[in-house]
Amino acid sequence: MQTLPVIELRKQLLAPPTPHEVTGIRVRNYRDEADIARWLEVRNAAFAGLHRGNRPWVRQNFEREFLKRWWWSPERLWFAEEVVKSQSPVTAGVIGLALRGSSENSAPSIHWLAVAPQFQSRGIATLLLAHVENSLWESPHWRAGARELFAQTHTAWTTAVRFYERHGFA
Ligand SMILES: CC(C)(COP(=O)(O)OP(=O)(O)OC[C@H]1O[C@@H](n2cnc3c(N)ncnc32)[C@H](O)[C@@H]1OP(=O)(O)O)[C@@H](O)C(=O)NCCC(=O)NCCS
Repeated sequence: MQTLPVIELRKQLLAPPTPHEVTGIRVRNYRDEADIARWLEVRNAAFAGLHRGNRPWVRQNFEREFLKRWWWSPERLWFAEEVVKSQSPVTAGVIGLALRGSSENSAPSIHWLAVAPQFQSRGIATLLLAHVENSLWESPHWRAGARELFAQTHTAWTTAVRFYERHGFA
């Protein structure tokens, strides 16, 4: 698989995050095993075509990226879903948070942000980011520290780079 140059971005929150809403979309945390397939579907659809040689991920990839990490908690993984009356919700986007060090005081970093192609450009990633920032803002560990949030992406993924920059990452 080709290696793409990585860009590291950082944002410091000095004020509570701006509330954001998207009509018909609600955000919740990881609930149970059934969410693994939902996460994979969104991740695979969002990243398809972005990276040559990028194969669809399977359950083991999710386990490695989330369930086996020391910082894993359902509270660090969010799902945006479209709610249509009398139908099952459809997963539109996902965002996770990783901790970079070995304690709860370690710097948080966005760990996989993806919005399914048919839901993009509706403000769903913005909504997910607002939930992450809100959760950090409420966390005593984070508030006692530098109040920084990190993100990593690839320079070639201009949509993502622009998204982060528009949201105050540099
Ligand atoms: C990057 C990504 C997560 C953005 O998701 P998104 O839900 O489309 O993001 P938003 O809708 O919040 O914002 C994207 C754009 O839509 C525009 N937008 C937001 N709400 C809108 C609305 N209601 N109507 C029209 N446009 C809107 C915003 O202006 C924004 O444009 P900008 O980036 O030029 O500022 C998505 O493109 C994606 O999954 N990409 C593939 C995976 C990836 O790159 N992940 C992140 C890096 S690891």
